[in-house]
Amino acid sequence: MSRFYLTTAIDYVNNRPHLGTAYEKIAADVIARYHRLAGDDVRFVMGNDEHSQNVFRRSTEVGLDPLVYCDRMEGEFRTVWAGLNISFDDFIRTTQPRHKAAVQAMVQQAFASGEIYEGLYEGWYCVSCEEFKPDKGLIDGQCPVHRTTPDWIKEKNYFFRLSKYRDALLEHYATHPDFVAPESRRNEMLRLLEGGLDDISVSRAGQAWGIPLPFALENVVYVWYDALINYAAAIGYGTDPTLFEHWWAQIGEPRRQVVHLVGKDITRFHCVVWPAMLMSAGLPLPTRIFGHGWVLFRGEKMSKSLGTVVDPLDAVEKFGPDPLRLFLSKEIVFGNDGDFSWDRFEEKYNADLANNLGNLVSRVTAMVDRYRQGHLRATLAAPQLAASGLAAATRWAQAFDDLAIDVGCAAVFQFVDRINEYIAIEAPWKLAKAGAAGDTAGNAALDVVLWNATEALRVAAVMLSPVMPAACDEIRRRLGDAPTGVPLLWAQDGQWRESGERFVVSGAALWPRLEPKETPVSEEIKPESAVPDQSQPPVSQWPLESRISIEDFMKVDLRVSTVLTAERVPNSKKLVKLTIDLGSEQRTLVAGIAEAYEADALVGRTVAIVANLKPAKLMGIESNGMILAASPDGGKPMLVAFDQPPAPGTRIR
Ligand code: MSP
Repeated sequence: MSRFYLTTAIDYVNNRPHLGTAYEKIAADVIARYHRLAGDDVRFVMGNDEHSQNVFRRSTEVGLDPLVYCDRMEGEFRTVWAGLNISFDDFIRTTQPRHKAAVQAMVQQAFASGEIYEGLYEGWYCVSCEEFKPDKGLIDGQCPVHRTTPDWIKEKNYFFRLSKYRDALLEHYATHPDFVAPESRRNEMLRLLEGGLDDISVSRAGQAWGIPLPFALENVVYVWYDALINYAAAIGYGTDPTLFEHWWAQIGEPRRQVVHLVGKDITRFHCVVWPAMLMSAGLPLPTRIFGHGWVLFRGEKMSKSLGTVVDPLDAVEKFGPDPLRLFLSKEIVFGNDGDFSWDRFEEKYNADLANNLGNLVSRVTAMVDRYRQGHLRATLAAPQLAASGLAAATRWAQAFDDLAIDVGCAAVFQFVDRINEYIAIEAPWKLAKAGAAGDTAGNAALDVVLWNATEALRVAAVMLSPVMPAACDEIRRRLGDAPTGVPLLWAQDGQWRESGERFVVSGAALWPRLEPKETPVSEEIKPESAVPDQSQPPVSQWPLESRISIEDFMKVDLRVSTVLTAERVPNSKKLVKLTIDLGSEQRTLVAGIAEAYEADALVGRTVAIVANLKPAKLMGIESNGMILAASPDGGKPMLVAFDQPPAPGTRIR
């Protein structure tokens, strides 16, 4: 069993958490849950950074003693984290005695060994960043992050000999290529190190809110120097050496990982200052520091001071925590920035959950209910489906091991596509019909298909459980594998089952489809010139004389069909070749939708087609029918969809 110690940045408590700060905690929680599922011994720590001047100012504004204010904010933070189902093992606050003990121990040791010395600091300080800012770090005299003019300060400070560690840090980066990730962040840090390092101020004079320097009690430890030490304090540095020894990284011990997850804006502190502090204290460095990107809102970093925040609990109240957890984990390439908008969130909710995974769970459980009264006995594995499951699991584990959580989520959804495809090809409704007519082979085949479909869905739910823990518990319950309270273990629960039985229960839609919002008329903005002239009857786009009769319309035979296979047509940007199931027959048709849909994502989809169109050749392939899609001017085609998938062959009129 490997030990996995995972931390997030600790948050300033001058405001409640927003979706940007929550993103980091959700990502960390997904990683922690994945490692627990993989059987690792996990310690996942988060916390609050309380000795900031902003926190002190805020407490004064609301008329509270700073500690009382921080106590209150702890409650607010814990409420948000509970709402998002964040499973931290420990929550550290920098005002706790254990943290104070660790900070004073590290600072005292550095001072005693000459690593900290007295000097004078004169320069800019941005209180929102809590950072000393060199002139070159400002844009038009303003902090580029907060767009405010920093304070000019001149103080007697204590300095840490950061400059001394430049070469050792460069050496560590060279010998540990995974130390900083992603690659872009690593390169940024390398450029910074190559440019040389200055010593940094580690104390503030004339402030009462903070941890006093043990050797100069009238000063407090600079808030960043204080905060970074939380990672050691939380596992006993300065208070519990055995615990610290248990969790902290050991040189040459690959089965012990220490991973810090932080935002890209604070990588310099984590990838340069913190490792130098550890070297100075004679401690091994963490295994990996991952600098994730920002959640943007309308292209801006989501931030309270910029007024661009979204409350994560708004999404939780409406949808529960899981759709938001999935959206942030799957839709943002981990390491890059990603935009959040409610429209996109709802679009992905419909696509991934309502129409895809949720619909699949409903269809499978409803079929087991209808054809086997909810009871299934195990059969042998369907070789291709089980092999797809194994391949998806390999990609999923590699991705999560490498912190590529978006790739891990995509691997699970590719497997969900395979399950849809399996059902479309095996057509259990036909086997049921044959079975009912006395065909024993059909009956046996139906048992195999239903067992494998439920089994595949169960394995997919186990894989997705780090991302959507509550929803996956519910999927497993419906599949007759109700959670027992014993944590899932991939080595057991990820195995394809070929023995036993299950009692499946169907239920209400897990994620009811969201209908597009209608803009209330009062909110429509009509420019003066767009107001129609009321004196003339409006001219219709469809004048009466050119309209067709119902008989004419009925000549067009529109039908429901399911996509069985899909592949891009070579040398064509727009065309995909599809095999579709029309209930009574299978057809090949060519559709111009490749710019809007991945071929793989089409498999298993229910579509509407014109069934009685004369064949036509497109890029040398004979197309037998036409798929229906909305074609917005200048936009990409959008396939016509159904609330619930009707059986293939159903007439549309
Ligand atoms: N207190 C320091 C961290 C000290 S760690 C020893 C701090 N706090 S913070 O509250 O400003 O930010 C906490 C974390 O949230 C940071 O990792 C920060 O990068 C992250 N985020 C803040 N806004 C964010 C987004 N809009 N998007 C993603 N992460 C963001 O910095």
